[in-house]
This record gives sequence, structure tokens and C-alpha cells, in this order.
Amino acid sequence: MILITGLNGEMGSALVQRLKELDVKNIIGLDIKPIKKSIKSFLTKSYIGDIKDKQLINKIFTENKIKQVYHLAAILSTKAESLPFLSHQINVDGFLNLLYEIQNNNTKVKFFFASSIAVYHLDKNNNVKISEDEFCDPSNMYGCNKLYCERIGSYFSKYSDLMNNLDFRSLRFSGIVSANTLPVGGTSDYAPEMIHNAVQNKSYTCYVNPKSCIPFMVMPDAIDAIITLMNTKRSSLKRNVYHIQAFNPTVQEIYNKLKAHFPNFQLNYDINERRQSLIDCWPSDLDQSAAKKDWGWEPKFNFNKAFDDYLIPYISDYYKMKE
Ligand SMILES: NC(=O)c1ccc[n+]([C@@H]2O[C@H](COP(=O)([O-])OP(=O)(O)OC[C@H]3O[C@@H](n4cnc5c(N)ncnc54)[C@H](O)[C@@H]3O)[C@@H](O)[C@H]2O)c1
Repeated sequence: MILITGLNGEMGSALVQRLKELDVKNIIGLDIKPIKKSIKSFLTKSYIGDIKDKQLINKIFTENKIKQVYHLAAILSTKAESLPFLSHQINVDGFLNLLYEIQNNNTKVKFFFASSIAVYHLDKNNNVKISEDEFCDPSNMYGCNKLYCERIGSYFSKYSDLMNNLDFRSLRFSGIVSANTLPVGGTSDYAPEMIHNAVQNKSYTCYVNPKSCIPFMVMPDAIDAIITLMNTKRSSLKRNVYHIQAFNPTVQEIYNKLKAHFPNFQLNYDINERRQSLIDCWPSDLDQSAAKKDWGWEPKFNFNKAFDDYLIPYISDYYKMKE
């Protein structure tokens, strides 16, 4: 059985659809909210409840022989900053509940953990290409939670005799933009919000300045990356955790691209200091040589293809159909 936590979210919904296309069966979903109708039929079973609930997690592992976990349930970066204790309980304790059950079972489990570039903190020069091992000194709650989970997942997987059955794999994502969903609670939300507003002929007030720059990718590339990483033989993977990106435009460059498609699109600024400081201390560019070498990471969508062939046409169609 395959367990996907946070199934209702942007990534979970896209992942389960892709697994279904690949004819993967025996998928179980867990989310705190009732599973969306559009994806419920792809599941063998679903559980509605809280990742913090130890009894529920025990029930899921007792009732099913779980061989793969895609752990996506989380509080995202902006919300985590305002609710740091709850963020720890969901993002760290929830993760530990899963590891505890894996430890109690003898079954070998391949575990995917969705991490983030929020684990990095660069004081200045955040436009230098960095490797996975540099600047891991998070200055935000979400990044602390993600880095700690990466470390204990790697520790149990590599060093502890308690969990020889755990095969832990993780990707640090930056902003992911999907044509199907609008994100809530992330610090990189300005990019999808700009696109959705431009397509609807609305202006947009951006909370970070025009020079702001972090890596992005589109959802189909993120999902392909997860599936490829999970299908790679363990012996080829030299690391437990990799970071990846596809393109890294500034806010101004995103605006220029949208303006070329929607000449009336107006962008205003009302800077949110906290969100700006998070973006400023995250890297703008990642050295992806490890992911390329170990499991052949290559995004299909660069900046132009992502906007011209995927995001703008699909999001435009979505709003036309709603009219
Ligand atoms: N989307 C991005 O740009 C991005 C970037 C970096 C990392 N990530 C990571 O990828 C994962 C998925 O992100 P997403 O964009 O789909 O987020 P999302 O907010 O759309 O989805 C998260 C899901 O988790 C569920 N959830 C929240 N609290 C829960 C709880 N206590 N118990 C059970 N379920 C709970 C929510 O209901 C939601 O369906 C997260 O771990 C996130 O940190 C996402």
C-alpha cells in the first residue's frame, strides 16, 4: 500500500493523478479535510484526520501494509511564522508519528519527504549558486521544522539500527506553480497570484519588491521529480536530500512576461517586511549537479515554456470555462 499524507493539497492532488495515469494502485490518502471528490475515486481508502493524532497513524499502519509513504501534510511557511508551536506539532511531531509506526513494523518502507529551500539562510549574495550542504541555518520556523525532519529521516535511514527498514528520500522544493490550483500560505505565492490576476484582467499588489528572486518550477516537473527519485535504485543515490529548480525569474521578469501577454496588467507594491526578509535570505540559484548526476533530474519546462505553453493557456482556459 502507498500512503499519501496531505493528499488534498496542491502537490498531493497532482501526485495522485499522475500515479493514477501510471496505473499505480493501492493508494491510501490522509488529510485533515475531507478528500476532494475529483481525486477520491483514485484511492483504495482514505482517512480524514490529523497527522498529529498518534492513534490514527497507528490505525492506518495496523490496518494496511504500508510500503511507500509520500509525506506532504504540512503547515506552509507564512502560516508557520504566525503559529510556530502548532507548526512544530504538525510539521515535526506529525512526521515523527509516521517514523514511529515504521519503526514498529518490519516492512521495508520507501519514504518521500517534501522539504523546502526555507532550510537555507543567506545573509547577502543570495544570488550565488549553492550546494545542498551550504547555508543550512534557517531563520524561520518552517525551515527549522523541515531541516530537522530531513536530519532525523537521514539519521534513522543511514545510521540507526532501530530502523533498517526505512529508505528516506527528500527534495527541497522552492516555489511550485500549478495551472490547476492557487496556493495559500506560502511565501512564494506572489508568482501564481500574479498570473491568476493577470489572466482575470485584474491588477495585483505584490508583497515583495521587483528584484526579489527565488527558484521556481511548474507542478508537472515537481511531480515527475518525486516519482523519478522514488524509482531510482538506492545504490545510485549518494544523498538522502536533494534540491532542484527549473527557472529563477525576478518579480520584474515575471511582470514583463505577463505584460507581453496581458498589456493592461498593472503591478503595484505593498511590501510585507517579514515576507520580504524570508525571500531575501533564501537562495536565488541552486547547484543541481547532485540531482542531475544521481537520478538524472532535468526539468521539462523552462521559464518561457512554463508561462507560454502551460500556465497562461491552462489558467486562461480555466477562467473562460467559469464564465
Ligand atoms: N507548493 C510549494 O510551492 C512547496 C514548496 C516547497 C515545499 N513544499 C512542501 O510540499 C508539501 C505539499 O505542499 P502543498 O503545496 O501541496 O501544500 P498544501 O497546503 O496545498 O497542502 C497541504 C495539505 O496538508 C493538509 N494538512 C495540513 N495540516 C494537516 C494535519 N494536521 N493533518 C493532516 N493533514 C494536514 C492540508 O489540509 C492540505 O491538504 C508540503 O510539505 C510543503 O511544505 C511545497
